Amino acid sequence: MKIYLLAFTFALTISVFSSESEMPNTNAQTMLLVHKTPTCGCCKKWIKHLEMSGMNTTTKNHESLEEIKATYNIKPEYRSCHTGVSVDGYIFEGHIPSQYITQFLSEDHPNAIGLSVPGMPVGSPGMEIGNRFMPYDVLILYKDGTSRVFAEVRKN
Ligand code: CU
Ligand code: CU
Repeated sequence: MKIYLLAFTFALTISVFSSESEMPNTNAQTMLLVHKTPTCGCCKKWIKHLEMSGMNTTTKNHESLEEIKATYNIKPEYRSCHTGVSVDGYIFEGHIPSQYITQFLSEDHPNAIGLSVPGMPVGSPGMEIGNRFMPYDVLILYKDGTSRVFAEVRKN
């Protein structure tokens, strides 16, 4: 009887632990430091979009972001108006929809430095102008400077 009870307790402990370790990476656990310029309005709107989806953000203003982009090795063709940096050092450049940030952080991407939406496509989060929409791609950026399409955004 004693042994049975012990085994039962043991099984219970295991199941509690495993259910905890399988917990999905929720937005509330996502913490981004967003580097931006003080006067840019679309950056603020993008940050609001992240916050609305439950992410935590802090911001840092810079007169110029040139140094930030260089530090994180974001090539000119991948650049946008702001650079988000996650706790573990991944970069999120430009007006990326929050869902792709969550997806990226929950997956394993060897040699990736982060995601980018180059430029500022009209209709992306923070770049809303009425109902206008310009199709765009979310790119995954790699350490060697290459990229590939992570997601094709074809509608709002
Ligand atoms: Cu912008
Ligand atoms: Cu901006």
